[in-house]
Amino acid sequence: MKRIVQICCQLLLLLGLAAGSRIPRAPNDTTANDWILDYVERHMDKSASPCEEFHRYATGKFKGEDEQDDIYSIPDTMILHFNERLQSVLDQLKDQAFTEANSVEEKVWRYYNTCLTAPESTRSPRHYLELVSSDENLTWPQFAHRRSKWPQEEFNWLQTLAQLRRYGMENSIIRMNVVPDAKDSTKFLVTVITPEVEKFLNVDIISDLLITIGVDRSQAQPLASKLVQLDTELYNFTAENKEEARLDEDDFTNAVYTLDELQNRTGLHLEKYLEIVFGRPINGSFEVEVLGTKYLEGLEEILQKYDSDVVASYLMVKFVHFLMALDGSEPDGDPGRCLDAVRFHMEQAGDLLYEDHYLKPEKLQKYTAEVQRIFEAIKQSFKDKLEKNHLHLSPAEVAALKEKLLAMTVTVGILPSKANHRRFVTDFYQGLELDSKPDFAKAQLEVLKLRTRRVLDQLNGAYSKDEGFFQLYDEISNNNPVPWFEVSGNTIILAIEMLREPVLATKGQHDVFKVSLLGYLLARKLMENFTPYFLPFDGKGNYGEVLRSFENYPSYVDALACLNATQTKNLAKRVIDVVSLGIAYDAYFGENSQFDQKQPDFTEVPLKQLFLLSVAQWFLGDAKYLDYGVADQDDVRLNQAIRNLPYFAEIFNCPTSAVLNPTDKCQVW
Ligand SMILES: *[C@@H]1O[C@H](CO)[C@@H](O)[C@H](O)[C@H]1NC(C)=O
Ligand SMILES: *[C@@H]1O[C@H](CO)[C@@H](O)[C@H](O)[C@H]1NC(C)=O
Ligand SMILES: *[C@@H]1O[C@H](CO)[C@@H](O)[C@H](O)[C@H]1NC(C)=O
Ligand SMILES: *[C@@H]1O[C@H](CO)[C@@H](O)[C@H](O)[C@H]1NC(C)=O
Ligand SMILES: *[C@@H]1O[C@H](CO)[C@@H](O)[C@H](O)[C@H]1NC(C)=O
Ligand SMILES: *[C@@H]1O[C@H](CO)[C@@H](O)[C@H](O)[C@H]1NC(C)=O
Repeated sequence: MKRIVQICCQLLLLLGLAAGSRIPRAPNDTTANDWILDYVERHMDKSASPCEEFHRYATGKFKGEDEQDDIYSIPDTMILHFNERLQSVLDQLKDQAFTEANSVEEKVWRYYNTCLTAPESTRSPRHYLELVSSDENLTWPQFAHRRSKWPQEEFNWLQTLAQLRRYGMENSIIRMNVVPDAKDSTKFLVTVITPEVEKFLNVDIISDLLITIGVDRSQAQPLASKLVQLDTELYNFTAENKEEARLDEDDFTNAVYTLDELQNRTGLHLEKYLEIVFGRPINGSFEVEVLGTKYLEGLEEILQKYDSDVVASYLMVKFVHFLMALDGSEPDGDPGRCLDAVRFHMEQAGDLLYEDHYLKPEKLQKYTAEVQRIFEAIKQSFKDKLEKNHLHLSPAEVAALKEKLLAMTVTVGILPSKANHRRFVTDFYQGLELDSKPDFAKAQLEVLKLRTRRVLDQLNGAYSKDEGFFQLYDEISNNNPVPWFEVSGNTIILAIEMLREPVLATKGQHDVFKVSLLGYLLARKLMENFTPYFLPFDGKGNYGEVLRSFENYPSYVDALACLNATQTKNLAKRVIDVVSLGIAYDAYFGENSQFDQKQPDFTEVPLKQLFLLSVAQWFLGDAKYLDYGVADQDDVRLNQAIRNLPYFAEIFNCPTSAVLNPTDKCQVW
């Protein structure tokens, strides 16, 4: 579950950041090396001492340029370039006659064009609610002929929740997902867990919203008050039960119940809910994994305190919030947001279009081969470390670690690597019918429904592992220009946005940049797999018996104490910052390196310095791109990584008294 949350949060951070920015200089008129070198050099503040303040030395000028609004963090640059390309692909579709019926291109174009041209009235919350009712034969209370005539007794909150779940609203009142089985990654299962809720803002905002969706002015305020009260009560209840949920989560031994058992315990009729969501009969012997049973047990009691029309309105507002947070739902068809709508709601199509219309298969193959080559070097570097066995692990444990490491892969793009991408994507969107009438809500709901169906299809083994790794997440927008790690596949997914300068160019880019930029990122993701949380997962991504509770291993505890000696907001992240730099550095300069270590002719900056300066570029702007959640400031993070790199002082000729040249360097692995 953590991994899913992780992706969603990374994205929330990313979204919107690029909006309103100007495009940075494109690497068109220079070679990749000159471009990156320039990128590095103009961020350097040579008035700082590298031995005292490496972060300032390497990136100190960044702020100044940032104020002139023409430079961004690396991921920002990547998104902007990617969007430009995808935009031009979409623009070309405009003039295309779609000869092949039902082609992916036509569907994408319809969605995009509907987003661009649909009248504002078709984007209003009210319109969405006209298209999606609370139940098959039940409208929303405010649409009833008279509100008092709305048939309270016909309303069933779980059934309504199921109706809305079909469009992807998966995180309200109950969180139901289809996820890989931790113990057998070839299978998926259904989990029912306590949601992560965001509280309603305040009564006035909800009241205004209610009025725009057709609630009588006189009723809006009192209803909004009740909704906020219900919301607070549910929020409080999730907070009370968080601890229990977290405990369950940590050892991957979540309770499995049949629906009969669950109904017995909680009073919730999940059979009907799941039947509606999955669109097929489901009986009481169906098994689900449950996290937070106490929460589920208390739900009915809370909801029963409120009238049905209040609960219905509550779900309705939740649904509106869910929809309005999606790209494209703005009042006008802003091309940038419409592009994002395509990119994030039809992400498989986005990948295919970028591949076929811009990259072309041959270039994709070249990129993929390069990514694999860099990743192999990173793996080899960590393997060397494991063999030295600094943590004094048993032979069986070292063997388990190596097995996991060697089996680890990197997947380029979100489509399965061995499948024919066009066929795969065409099949994926089979059944998506978008009509040519420009009604945005209608189109978006169709797209969301299809996408959600595909997420749920995973339960029935819809995607064969033989075609390569593929996984679809409930959260919208997992397209993310930083790689992410997916334990069930023991793989790192490298978003297709990353396949360009400065991270990776096909032509002429020096290995020193490839390893310091792409290699370092891959090393970070690799190290995530070797944090205590993920260590018990084996090479096939199955939770096993070995290496559990690694956080309590004495040698690991000692190693962490060294890094914990100076304060940190996130020790786990510091471990990754430090270890990944060592791994990437050794991959390039270590004894088993296959990389060319001659001084390149495009710069006088010594190769080893260049490597570290280039890595430092990940820590400018905002290193939150590297992962999610709480972290130390960029300067603290980078300086920690640097001061624990054994070779640093030598590379920059630092005296023994220098801040970044402590006598005792911390070593974890
Ligand atoms: C490179 O990009 C710049 C700025 O976008 C543009 O002015 C210039 O003409 C481009 N050069 C080439 C060779 O395309
Ligand atoms: C909805 O109404 C139709 C027609 O009256 C009926 O056939 C159907 O069973 C009803 N569905 C539900 C869920 O009550
Ligand atoms: C929710 O919790 C807060 C803080 O503990 C409390 O003040 C409030 O009364 C609670 N609200 C409800 C509706 O339970
Ligand atoms: C439900 O609970 C009752 C009483 O606690 C018990 O007798 C019955 O076997 C339970 N049924 C299931 C399916 O667990
Ligand atoms: C319940 O469903 C399962 C699988 O769908 C099926 O094998 C089983 O026979 C069903 N049981 C009953 C009592 O219908
Ligand atoms: C790290 O240090 C803090 C206090 O500075 C302490 O609370 C925490 O338990 C330490 N963590 C580990 C894993 O040693």
